[in-house]
Amino acid sequence: MSTTPEFDGKVALVTGAASGIGLAIAEKLAASGAAVVIADYNETGAKETADRLTASGARAAAVAVDVTDAASVEAAVRFTVETFGALHLAVNNAGIGGPSRPTGEYEISDWDRVVATNLSGVFYSLRHELPAIVASGGGAVVNMASILGTNGFAGSPAYVAAKHGVVGLTKTAALEYAAQGVRINAVGPGFIETPLLAGSDAASHDHLVSLHPQGRLGRAEEVAELTVFLLSEKASFIQGSYHLVDGGYSAR
Ligand SMILES: NC(=O)c1ccc[n+]([C@@H]2O[C@H](COP(=O)([O-])OP(=O)(O)OC[C@H]3O[C@@H](n4cnc5c(N)ncnc54)[C@H](O)[C@@H]3O)[C@@H](O)[C@H]2O)c1
Repeated sequence: MSTTPEFDGKVALVTGAASGIGLAIAEKLAASGAAVVIADYNETGAKETADRLTASGARAAAVAVDVTDAASVEAAVRFTVETFGALHLAVNNAGIGGPSRPTGEYEISDWDRVVATNLSGVFYSLRHELPAIVASGGGAVVNMASILGTNGFAGSPAYVAAKHGVVGLTKTAALEYAAQGVRINAVGPGFIETPLLAGSDAASHDHLVSLHPQGRLGRAEEVAELTVFLLSEKASFIQGSYHLVDGGYSAR
């Protein structure tokens, strides 16, 4: 007996979907029946991903976006609605790490770049997605925060401040849009094996592993499981909250 895929008829936009966590989320949404727009400033990676998903029988399209540019985000949302006719689900996931340096030595330009991507990028995305989701009859959004959305981390002032901001922005938008049928939540991953961590040397990597009671870093698919659950009807009473997937990191 065949069953209808969970996200049949739904249209999703995932930022930062050419790599890592966003890629795993886009793959899972596509496998569950959603039409997915792969939005990334890595245009080649976005196109390769969309082509691969389309070849597997899914509905997917790629769009180049720079989430630090509000007009670019607006165009990506417009592209989604024009391509697939609606927008129901959004994952605001594009993000960068930034250099490791104490607050008193942190370059202003690094602060500006990290906050522009990891916080303003999420606001610009919500700013343009929410009217489109309401016009489509409602839906759900997940903003990708981090365990560093509630904990500090020495050497990462911009990243930590931006991710704390994402958690507050999530709660506020969730209050504003609940009555219009839009659920908005945040996910807080521990450290996950993705290209974002590729710059760390073996000693830093081992240190990060030691911070997780499970004795390993997470996998992008494990973050995708939680994210896609929050987007689904199974999470119908989950609104404005922040959900960890961190191997015990925050339990200390
Ligand atoms: N990897 C981790 O340990 C970890 C932990 C917690 C939270 N996160 C968060 O998860 C999200 C995804 O990270 P990841 O680990 O998959 O990283 P990643 O580097 O593998 O992927 C990030 C993607 O975002 C894209 N991107 C970056 N800046 C962009 C911009 N201005 N406009 C459009 N696209 C842009 C990149 O091209 C890339 O495809 C980020 O928000 C990150 O902060 C990651």
